[in-house]
Amino acid sequence: MRNMTWDRRHLLQLEGMAAEDILAILEQAERWRAIAMGQAPRLDLLAGRTIANLFFEDSTRTRSSFTLAARRLGADTLDLAAAGSSVSKGETMTDTALNLQAMGVAAFVVRCKEAGVPHMLAKAVQIPVLNAGDGRHEHPTQGLLDIMTLRHRLGPDLKGRTIAIVGDIVNSRVARSAIHGLTTLGANVVLCGPPTLVPKSFESIVNSAAVGGRGKIKVDHDLDSMLPALDAIMMLRVQFERAGGGPSLISGDYHALYGLTAQRAARLSEHAVVLHPGPVNRGLELDSEVMDDTSSPHGRSAILQQVSNGVAVRMAAMAMLLAGAST
Ligand code: CP
Repeated sequence: MRNMTWDRRHLLQLEGMAAEDILAILEQAERWRAIAMGQAPRLDLLAGRTIANLFFEDSTRTRSSFTLAARRLGADTLDLAAAGSSVSKGETMTDTALNLQAMGVAAFVVRCKEAGVPHMLAKAVQIPVLNAGDGRHEHPTQGLLDIMTLRHRLGPDLKGRTIAIVGDIVNSRVARSAIHGLTTLGANVVLCGPPTLVPKSFESIVNSAAVGGRGKIKVDHDLDSMLPALDAIMMLRVQFERAGGGPSLISGDYHALYGLTAQRAARLSEHAVVLHPGPVNRGLELDSEVMDDTSSPHGRSAILQQVSNGVAVRMAAMAMLLAGAST
């Protein structure tokens, strides 16, 4: 899936997306935060348009926030899953999309187990496709909301900041989008976890030499030694459902070696932020005590802030593709 060029008609990946395009979406999202949170009247920017949510894999956050984002832009939404649609009778996803396009939908939001399906649909249809997570490839709106959250906590310029991404990197579309988005903005990324889940080859996922000012990427398996130097730590869910997974994906000492315990969190610097894309395996990737540290004004955990920012980011992304807003 690597090195596909960024197609401005769709939002398929953060790989290849220019820093100014990332920042344009985030700045629009900032302007719409109150509307995104239901604290200001909805817009009519997409009135009369219908956004089709094609969720062929389960989701709570992404699906709900794309729906809320569309409605807060004035659009209607249509929800389809594999179960209950003719995909369960063998109709291809492309034929499904072509049939919905023939009914006048304005854009597709696509979540699926297989990497590359949003790209495949984008080639087949004439309307925008937004990738809501495809297999182990990318989850671009998650990457954008992660960056938005980090900018709130660390300041708008992430250049030179150090962000650790910890856990099941090999199976994670969230990690891939974060790696591309963060290094494009000049942040340094450290990938940490067991060697089976964090192979050294990830260091070549981005070509730092190719773009001036790009952040560096490093694999390091020693979580304890890196903690004091971090500006943020993103804990990832162990994805037992992915191919080759199951309980054998990790060994019994995973939590002891790579979990963000309260003791480890205490070794982070005072300003450091804890992220997790959700859903969380409480007590495995991080302790409840760390996850629930959301005390006002700035508890260490920004996990629910990430969720809130997701609505604004998805509003901005849909508006950019469907109404030219923020470009
Ligand atoms: N972060 C995320 O993609 O969560 P969902 O699977 O609930 O959408």
